[in-house]
Amino acid sequence: QEAKPLDQFTRATQALTHIFLKTEVKPVVGIILGSGLGNFASQVENADVIPYDEIPGWPLSTVEGHSGKLVLGTIAGVPVAVMQGRVHAYEGYEMNEVVFPMRVLGMLGCKKLIVTNAAGGINTSYGEGALVNITDHINNTGRNAAIGPNDKRFAVQSGFGQRFFDMSNAYSPRLNALAKAEAARQGIALHEGVYMAVLGPSYETPAEIRAFRTLGADLVGMSTVHEVIIARHMGIEVLGFSLVTNMAAGVMPEANINHEEVMQIGKRLEPQFASLVKALVPQVAAA
Ligand code: 6GU
Repeated sequence: QEAKPLDQFTRATQALTHIFLKTEVKPVVGIILGSGLGNFASQVENADVIPYDEIPGWPLSTVEGHSGKLVLGTIAGVPVAVMQGRVHAYEGYEMNEVVFPMRVLGMLGCKKLIVTNAAGGINTSYGEGALVNITDHINNTGRNAAIGPNDKRFAVQSGFGQRFFDMSNAYSPRLNALAKAEAARQGIALHEGVYMAVLGPSYETPAEIRAFRTLGADLVGMSTVHEVIIARHMGIEVLGFSLVTNMAAGVMPEANINHEEVMQIGKRLEPQFASLVKALVPQVAAA
C-alpha cells in the first residue's frame, strides 16, 4: 500500500525543524527579495545563512540571478528572515510549491511581510529605476495559491472566515503610510501603484499592456500576488515594493526588454532601496 502524500502543513513543519536546528533567530518580519535586489541580504547582522537546497521541501529556482538562500539575523535589532531568491509559477512549480516558503515564514513567527519584486512599468509617469509602493494587486495569473483543502492550521485570518478571506486591505494602508513618510524623510522618490501579476515567462504584448492599463494596472510582473494571498490567509500584514526595471511592452516603443537589463537596474537602485527598507524594518516591526 502506498503512503499518503504529506499535507502542506506537515511538509512545512519539516522545513521548520531544519531551520530550528540551524538558527536561534525567531523572525518577526519576513523579507522577500526580488530580482536584482538580493544584495539586501548583506544588511542582516549576525546572519545565519541556510541554502534553500538544505531545507526539506523548499523549492529551488532555475532562473539565473535568483540565488537561493534564507538569511536569518537582525536588522536594526529586529529579528528577520530574508529570502534571497524565490521560485515562480512559470518555472513549472505548482502553487503549493511557490508559496511553501511563505507558509514557512509565517510558521516561523513572522507577523509582517516586506515583499519586493522587479516589475515592468505600465504607468507612464514612471521611468526605469522608479521605486513603487504597491497599494493593491490584480491577480491575472488564473491561479490562486489558496486553492486546495483549507488547512485551518494555516488560516489565522479572522473576519471573513478561513476558506474565504478578505483581501480588501491586502497591502497594509498603515504600513504604506510609514513607507511614504520614510521615503520623504530620506528624499527618495517613492511612487504608488497597482501590481498586475501574470503567469509568464513571456513578457507581454503591447496590446496586453494597453489592456492592463485600462484595467487599472500600473505595474506588471510574475510574482508577489501568490505570496501576498497566503500571507493574508495567515493573518500577516504586508508591505510591498516594486522596482521598475523597464517600461512594459509598447510603452517606450524603441526599447525592448531583457533579463540582463532587469538585473542591472536592480544593482543601480540597490543603495536607495536598501536604505529605505532598512529604516522601515524597525518601524514595521513596531507597528
Ligand atoms: Cl515588462 N513584464 C513582466 N511580466 N515582468 C517583468 C517585466 C515585464 N519587467 C520586469 N519584470
